[in-house]
Amino acid sequence: MGYKVRIMQQEDALQMAEIAMDAFPTAQPPTNYQREFRNPLAHYIVVFDTAVGDDGPVQYMVGYGGFWLMAGEAHIVDIAVRQTYRRRGLGELLLVCLLDLAVALNSLKATLEVRASNAPAIALYEKYGFVLEGRRRRYYLDNNEDALIMTVPDICLDEYLRRLDELKTRHAARWGFKLYPLAR
Ligand SMILES: CC(C)(COP(=O)(O)OP(=O)(O)OC[C@H]1O[C@@H](n2cnc3c(N)ncnc32)[C@H](O)[C@@H]1OP(=O)(O)O)[C@@H](O)C(=O)NCCC(=O)NCCS
Repeated sequence: MGYKVRIMQQEDALQMAEIAMDAFPTAQPPTNYQREFRNPLAHYIVVFDTAVGDDGPVQYMVGYGGFWLMAGEAHIVDIAVRQTYRRRGLGELLLVCLLDLAVALNSLKATLEVRASNAPAIALYEKYGFVLEGRRRRYYLDNNEDALIMTVPDICLDEYLRRLDELKTRHAARWGFKLYPLAR
């Protein structure tokens, strides 16, 4: 049946934690997604693979992402896709939907921290116009790795919104997706 994206619901917390454990195994303490659901600053979305089972439609969560909205800034805290579903355009789908949601909520800027060695994530963020703003030395305690701070300074400007629309059109054509439910 294909993929489905929607805003996080409370019952999603368990599967999100499962995906997080695989994607961010060294996170200490692990994020509590039940608490995140109740956090008024937090905005999470989830993507499901859907199929028809013997007893009707079956949904399997394959990725999720979220940001905290503070002082006009959307701070992307997580984007993760299950290993077996990577490189199928789903990380990009999540990022597009998060940026659309951030714009809809009147964010002025998008920001995030990423491990300096995380080449796949950095390439994804650069594709969407994130630029290096700074570096937190030895930010990750498990291996003393630096965090890169990457931002899109003006996500609400027409110039950026046009770029986002172009990238989305290309993404949809490439992967045959028609699911940008949180669009402006
Ligand atoms: C980062 C992550 C979310 C990407 O998800 P994905 O579904 O595999 O990515 P997509 O298929 O949508 O790829 C989108 C873009 O990301 C980049 N990218 C993704 N995987 C890549 C890889 N292995 N190498 C280089 N670039 C990669 C590319 O720019 C790609 O665009 P392209 O297809 O035009 O080259 C995924 O690798 C993941 O879950 N990683 C573990 C969690 C994590 O590190 N999250 C980021 C924390 S800041």
